[in-house]
Amino acid sequence: MVGVAALLAATVGVIFLRGRGDRPPRFGDFVGNETCLGCHTEQRSFAGTAHHRTSAPASSRTIAASFAPGENTLSTPNPALRYHMDARPDGFFQTAVVGEPPDTSTISKRIDLVIGSGRKGQTYLYWESGDRLYQLPISYWTALQAWISSPGYPEGVVNFERPVAPRCLECHSTFFEPAADSQGVHRYAEGRSIPGISCEKCHGAGRDHVARQRSPVTRFLGTPIVNPAELPRQRQLELCAQCHGGVGEPVTPSFSYRPGQPLEQHLRLPPTLPNEALDVHGNQVALLQRSTCFAASDMTCSTCHDVHQTQRNPAAFSARCLSCHQAQTHEAVPELGATITNRCVDCHMPELPSRMIVSRQDGRSVQPRIRSHWIRVYAAGELN
Ligand code: HEC
Ligand code: HEC
Ligand code: HEC
Ligand code: HEC
Ligand code: HEC
Ligand code: HEC
Ligand code: HEC
Repeated sequence: MVGVAALLAATVGVIFLRGRGDRPPRFGDFVGNETCLGCHTEQRSFAGTAHHRTSAPASSRTIAASFAPGENTLSTPNPALRYHMDARPDGFFQTAVVGEPPDTSTISKRIDLVIGSGRKGQTYLYWESGDRLYQLPISYWTALQAWISSPGYPEGVVNFERPVAPRCLECHSTFFEPAADSQGVHRYAEGRSIPGISCEKCHGAGRDHVARQRSPVTRFLGTPIVNPAELPRQRQLELCAQCHGGVGEPVTPSFSYRPGQPLEQHLRLPPTLPNEALDVHGNQVALLQRSTCFAASDMTCSTCHDVHQTQRNPAAFSARCLSCHQAQTHEAVPELGATITNRCVDCHMPELPSRMIVSRQDGRSVQPRIRSHWIRVYAAGELN
């Protein structure tokens, strides 16, 4: 009897083990955050994080920008081009008004998808012909609390035709299934997408893990889910480098990377030269790797970050420095006294303007400031 049960358990285990783990994930392999949180209640705080909120269907809750009269228009240096943004019963719309009165025409598109949690800003996307995804020309900048030209769009030129490449969604969502004949361009299967970065983006699609944990027979067989803490350092970094290591060149189609696998089999991230200027946006991995702290210790992203909760307090991060460094002997102690222990990050990981994300407003460029991950001594002149 016991022998039969063991044989059965082993067979079921083998089926699970050999099933879905060794091919790229499919839409049906994902179970969604709510299922995971049903057992893993400690991770509930994840729902408030920028990862979770980084993309979503458009709604009054997810769009950070204002449609109130007086706040919903944008003029451009071109007198023959202006925009208005409207909340209507059938959705939220961006409308370009082209030409000068009385000879004007309009182009109007509905905001379907929101990209960006709104920490810094949001960009909006729309569907066309059912399965094609395009970017809208007007974004939202949180620091200005205003609508503004989308990054990289010249002011005063109307453009509703920028397709949204799969790589953009690979970094800002969990999964978008390509349309059957998409050929790697901006066409996606309707209704088969998972906006927001979910548990399963970092832990791997979880259907087998859940099935195994729910079955009294198989739950003791070891569990097919990735715990990044148990991966070698390089694999842990690669998990984050998929999105925080630069755009790179795809080797396999987007959404085929599985956590724990070598990233280079999926995405080629060109090595950075020692003196190459690195932007503070989008490449925390390479910046950190440049730091003496990183080279002289076994630091990973998890040394400072717990991605299951929102951490926005620079003083709390400075406490992490003190797990390896001492404050008492620091040269700045006479000047700062005991408060130095809250301020390591201010001087050694300053917020610097991105040179990569640039929007134009009234002929000026507007750039977000992003926390530099090159931990070092900065000269005063480098800080603006
Ligand atoms: C039915 C309950 C249940 C559900 C649903 C569930 N888990 Fe688990 N999970 C467990 C249990 C129990 C363990 C501990 C297993 C062990 O230590 O062998 C575990 C372990 C883990 C681990 C650590 C694995 C390790 O090797 O250390 C991770 C990561 C994890 N789960 C993530 C998830 C994610 C992501 C989801 C959703 C896709 C999920 N879990 C859904 C019960 C569940
Ligand atoms: C699928 C792509 C993806 C992966 C994988 C990923 N990130 Fe992110 N991460 C993002 C994006 C996109 C944002 C910006 C979200 C936003 O604000 O819209 C972000 C934001 C963050 C932030 C800022 C959060 C805040 O609230 O200020 C931290 C910290 C971070 N990621 C750390 C990590 C770490 C550590 C890992 C690896 C364990 C990781 N990320 C893996 C895409 C990813
Ligand atoms: C290689 C991964 C990657 C790609 C590709 C990418 N992003 Fe991002 N994006 C990030 C990360 C990481 C952040 C936040 C951290 C940072 O700025 O370094 C971010 C930040 C943003 C933000 C600001 C969110 C906030 O509130 O802070 C917006 C908006 C955004 N991206 C839109 C887009 C759009 C639209 C595309 C494609 C057309 C795109 N990104 C392509 C990784 C990526
Ligand atoms: C951005 C990537 C990312 C996302 C998204 C993410 N995790 Fe994790 N998770 C990690 C990393 C990295 C670790 C290992 C942390 C460490 O080194 O201690 C981890 C560890 C865990 C563990 C093991 C904890 C332990 O104490 O051993 C569980 C369980 C878990 N995550 C569940 C979840 C659940 C549930 C969600 C969604 C609600 C989620 N994770 C979302 C990256 C992520
Ligand atoms: C995991 C351990 C560890 C952590 C955490 C850590 N460091 Fe370091 N750091 C080191 C080691 C090891 C060195 C090289 C030896 C030394 O200078 O003490 C170093 C070097 C430095 C240097 C000299 C850099 C240079 O270019 O010579 C600075 C500045 C520094 N760390 C600041 C910080 C700050 C600020 C934090 C927190 C944001 C931090 N470190 C977190 C281990 C760490
Ligand atoms: C030595 C500590 C430390 C390590 C290690 C570290 N970070 Fe950070 N990170 C910080 C601090 C401090 C902030 C700023 C938090 C704030 O001000 O809200 C930050 C912020 C971020 C942000 C948001 C940046 C912005 O301004 O929008 C991202 C994204 C991020 N970290 C990703 C990563 C990734 C990916 C890794 C691993 C390659 C990593 N971090 C390793 C300390 C660290
Ligand atoms: C007001 C800005 C400021 C603050 C706050 C600050 N530092 Fe520094 N730190 C500096 C400067 C400037 C130097 C270079 C001193 C020199 O070499 O003359 C330095 C040097 C260092 C060094 C040694 C680098 C080397 O090799 O000479 C380490 C390590 C370091 N700081 C860590 C920290 C830690 C940890 C904290 C928080 C407890 C901290 N710093 C807070 C400005 C600051």
